[in-house]
Amino acid sequence: MTLASLSAARILLIIGGGVAAYKALDLIRRLRERGASVRVIMTQAAKHFIAPLSAAALSGQKVYDDLFSLTDEAEMGHIELSREADLLVVAPATADLIARMAHGLAHDMATTALLATDKRALIAPAMNLRMWLHPATQRNVALLEKDGVLFVGPMDGEMACGEFGPGRMAEPLEIVAAVEAALTKPTVIPLPAGARGKAAGRSGVLSGRRVLVTSGPTYEAIDPVRFLANRSSGRQGHAIAEAAREAGAAVTLVSGPVAIADPLDIETVHVESARDMLKAVEKALPADIFIAAAAVADWRIAEPGAAKLKKGRGKPPALELVENPDILATIAAAAGKRPRLVVGFAAETENLLANARAKLAAKKADLIVANDVGAASGVFGGKANLVHLVSKDGVESWPSMDKREVAARLISRLAMMLGADS
Ligand code: CTP
Repeated sequence: MTLASLSAARILLIIGGGVAAYKALDLIRRLRERGASVRVIMTQAAKHFIAPLSAAALSGQKVYDDLFSLTDEAEMGHIELSREADLLVVAPATADLIARMAHGLAHDMATTALLATDKRALIAPAMNLRMWLHPATQRNVALLEKDGVLFVGPMDGEMACGEFGPGRMAEPLEIVAAVEAALTKPTVIPLPAGARGKAAGRSGVLSGRRVLVTSGPTYEAIDPVRFLANRSSGRQGHAIAEAAREAGAAVTLVSGPVAIADPLDIETVHVESARDMLKAVEKALPADIFIAAAAVADWRIAEPGAAKLKKGRGKPPALELVENPDILATIAAAAGKRPRLVVGFAAETENLLANARAKLAAKKADLIVANDVGAASGVFGGKANLVHLVSKDGVESWPSMDKREVAARLISRLAMMLGADS
């Protein structure tokens, strides 16, 4: 995925311990002014230069600094933290931080996030010119460049120590420009071929399981050029497929037409209509978990025009609608083939929980993820989601979070349910 601009970009800013750390505060402001969200990790050394509270106030988010804080890990683990971002920015990147990055050391939150991430890092070095020019630093910089790490600066200029030369950190706006340039290219670093299966097979909570996910809208033809559809972006469904794969499952994603890329290493079946989606889902069975995240069109046109419908021939055409098959209900009732867990979504604009409970019963699902898709919520097409998990055991409401976070939590919840069930 590439992002055309900073608006809606998610940046993980790692602040190292150097005099230039104060400029990182201005950088947070500049990034946020342009619509980016910024989460901050500070090294222990950075805290000698600036207060975490300043970074928290400017970013509007909690600042992370301690790898072993159980509270932080419960809220958002360091892996999740490093992966929900579109780009990691290290500013200031001290000689020590650069050395630790180059050698894959990971004994604090900053370096662990840098090692665990699946996104590119852009670093803004800042140090005394002797330290910058030292062969050890230059060797480390060359290693990082070879690894695909992006650099902005250092600039020539007068330094806090009074010397003049290369080593001064790029100014916040120069860093912003470099971030914008970095976001015009894909920022996800793919795993080496074949690595995923091995890694996932060892440790994933869903390893050995099959997960089937529907995503996106369906298109129902009116004639060869027109169709009925809805505003689903496919982001939530695709994120669920990715989270299931991250958890080690073998995943099949059946997707309606969407503008986002197929997830890496996931078998993705492309369909248009609800009936085709049902066929593709039935073909992909058996599965341990079925998650119906698609916004399936409830109706289709009874008799789509074989040729383009033309205007000016009397009255506008009367489009007769017929109901589409309900994929979720069909799969939940599939004798002998019903996945152990069947999960649906309830996209509602009113009476959210009552409608979700009704869908749980009517469609015989094990869990309904209810979300408010009224225009004001910005959920359809947006990156965040506010959901309630409705099951026979009751309702659990989650705070508003990124769709990828909803996906990761949903998958770990389903893994637990599957575990408890077997
Ligand atoms: N769903 C499905 N097949 C359909 C319609 C819906 O599989 N033909 C699934 C969706 O993927 C979702 C759940 O059913 O998991 C609920 O979808 P939603 O559109 O909220 O509900 P509907 O059943 O269509 O009911 P209504 O539109 O009347 O609210």
